[in-house]
Amino acid sequence: MMISCKTFCTGRKGSHMSVPSIIRNESDLRDWPSRRREILSLFEDYEYGKTPDMEFDKSGCVCLEHLELTSGQIKESYGFYFIKNKKTANLRFDLIYRKSERKLPTIIHVDPFGKNPALIAYMKKLNPKAQLDEMFPMYSLANKDIATINVDVSSLAPDDPVKSNFGMLELYPPQGSNGWCALGVWAWAMSRVVDFIYSDNRFDTSRIIIAGCSRAGKTALWAAAQDERITGVFASVSGCCGSAMHRGKTGERIVSIIKEFPHWSCQKFKEYGEREDELPFDQHMLLALIAPRPLYITSASEDDWACPPKEFESCVRAGEIYRALGKTGLSSETFPETNSPIIDGDIAYHLRKGPHGCKAYDWENVISFMRKKLCF
Ligand code: GCU
Repeated sequence: MMISCKTFCTGRKGSHMSVPSIIRNESDLRDWPSRRREILSLFEDYEYGKTPDMEFDKSGCVCLEHLELTSGQIKESYGFYFIKNKKTANLRFDLIYRKSERKLPTIIHVDPFGKNPALIAYMKKLNPKAQLDEMFPMYSLANKDIATINVDVSSLAPDDPVKSNFGMLELYPPQGSNGWCALGVWAWAMSRVVDFIYSDNRFDTSRIIIAGCSRAGKTALWAAAQDERITGVFASVSGCCGSAMHRGKTGERIVSIIKEFPHWSCQKFKEYGEREDELPFDQHMLLALIAPRPLYITSASEDDWACPPKEFESCVRAGEIYRALGKTGLSSETFPETNSPIIDGDIAYHLRKGPHGCKAYDWENVISFMRKKLCF
């Protein structure tokens, strides 16, 4: 694939650009499902770990609370529980929607911050003006006839190098170099919520959008890569281990991720701290696993840590497989100005002016893109 240097001139110095290809030859193209499985295994074996096959002694999902709000909206809280060898893990999620004659499209939102005050404080430090409810404006989206589900994935694996070993990882501890990790558990949690959507006839199973910001954006991408029932994906400022290419990345690199957040990735990944160029894949291949589904990636102009040009590059590169599958990639492959969304393809991208986070501006554009692509 020809990629113009003009598009990607901002990489780290000294890094060579031998980027592995999504499609290496005719046979990869002819048999995309098998190439897809191969790419998925690379991410399992080298980065996020492999989700184990699981069998529980007992598991289920219960509605814990049902409220009819004065606004006319319904709010429900649910808990999944999983029991194995007398150990228990649970997953909480909240649903808000407005009653409708039609089955509702859903947005499932990865929330590792919800109930964790230390993390909220940390986010506030990163961006003092952060309005955490803007990350997922449930009530206003519900007024647009979209069912919104906020999934507190930290209830299943806390976002902490030590505490993450409790909960789900206590029931199924990581095994070997590709043992799963907190991020893998979070992605798995999102699939349990997809099971819930499939089991409930209020929802339209052909319109399930996953969304996540930053570490939750990384999770949203990994969840959608594994679970093809998810029909649309929105990842904001997902940066390193999310949408940003590892090769040539500036700001956060693997070496800092594995030091600060060792519980996010599998053991094998720890060998690649300063060796990004030797990985047999790069993050454009994670986006390729989402093809041909509509995908919206956003960056923020002040977010050098996430490295917007490298988030954009992976979108350009993933276009290859979208086109091969009869869809379109990005409608423009030139890095855009701030607040100039590229939204005419099946991959969309914008660079919001401002700091790290997910804002009303991001949601407005994402919703109009998803409405068009998924026809709702
Ligand atoms: C840190 C971390 C990033 C992550 C971000 C977040 O900055 O280094 O990888 O995306 O937190 O989740 O907000």
